[in-house]
Amino acid sequence: MINKRIYLDNAASTPLDERVARHMMKILVETPGNPSSPHHEGQQARIIIEEARDAAAAMLGSESRDIFFTSGGTEANNSALMGMARAMQNHGRHIISTPVEHPSVRAALEALEKEGFSVEYLKPGADGNIAPASLNSLLRDDTILVSVMYVNNETGIIHPVREMAGMLAGHRALFHVDAVQAFGKLDFDVHSLPCDALSFSAHKIHGPKGIGGLFLRHGTPFRPRAVGGGQEANRRAGTENISGIAGLHKAIELCRERPEHRRQARRLQKHFEQGLREIYPRALILGEQTLRSPYISAIALPGIDNQSLLLNLDLQGVAVSVGSACSSGSIKPSHVIRAISEDETIVNSTIRVSYNRYQTIEDMDEALMRFKTVLNR
Ligand SMILES: Cc1ncc(COP(=O)(O)O)c(C=O)c1O
Repeated sequence: MINKRIYLDNAASTPLDERVARHMMKILVETPGNPSSPHHEGQQARIIIEEARDAAAAMLGSESRDIFFTSGGTEANNSALMGMARAMQNHGRHIISTPVEHPSVRAALEALEKEGFSVEYLKPGADGNIAPASLNSLLRDDTILVSVMYVNNETGIIHPVREMAGMLAGHRALFHVDAVQAFGKLDFDVHSLPCDALSFSAHKIHGPKGIGGLFLRHGTPFRPRAVGGGQEANRRAGTENISGIAGLHKAIELCRERPEHRRQARRLQKHFEQGLREIYPRALILGEQTLRSPYISAIALPGIDNQSLLLNLDLQGVAVSVGSACSSGSIKPSHVIRAISEDETIVNSTIRVSYNRYQTIEDMDEALMRFKTVLNR
């Protein structure tokens, strides 16, 4: 009998913090107004949004007016890429990205290709990371947009986006960073990482699903996708998701202790990786030779089929993943692992284990015991 499940799929989504849930419930019940209304109830709702905007801006070191809320990371990525590319098309139609982006970036780029934009991809090196210098080889006069994610959601690899931003200084191309796996976890701001647009999402930091936002530096050419009532300074129409925005605000507040959260995640990651190597000496940590987030491990277990491992671990009460959440359920091998390794053994045996700040070494030990049971079979 398995009495406690161990959730190691925090890169897909983190558990909602109870303090966030309680705060959201209060807002849901006590906020009848539409934030666009001029009366008291409307203005109460407006205040909730503007305070959350200030908190998101403080986290990113930006001006509050440069933040708008979306339904999450996917919409932020879609809006950024489509909104900026379409607004820039008179200057050129060349876009640069990487083959390891989240599906919400990949699909947006494919849609733009159908509109006549051309996209080229920076290839990861032997360590799985993208060398900043490779940007120079693809950058052209008609490049209008570069999009590179900060932390890869499948490997945890930290891309050199600061260096890339520096290289783009003085070039017309706009720079978008998908920071969904970095926001609230790593320390950065839009001064040390001078990008034009940056996406974030609440449910990776113990906030609610379905809310996130985009930092869009003022003056950046942009065509909104949702049009209507002119909300969010004409960047995203539609009555705002007040309780979600309040939940995001609370989740941001809870990230204040992020150096300690990171230390805990690193302890868990080290302990788990080392433990798994003892159980399965052929285990290979992807991205080990480069910078990695402490929250994610991509581990290849040559000789093991990752799909059946996932299912068997699930039966033992352990949740891990193969690829990103959006493609889980399908049996397609991960495009990310394939982009960093040509070895099919690696592609078909890699699992993702991802941690959260509230987990303990005891949780890792329990998970390792269950891994051992399954791997021995
Ligand atoms: C790197 C990255 N970008 C974008 C997203 C999409 O965010 P959301 O789930 O809020 O739409 C995710 C979530 O899986 C992600 O990991």
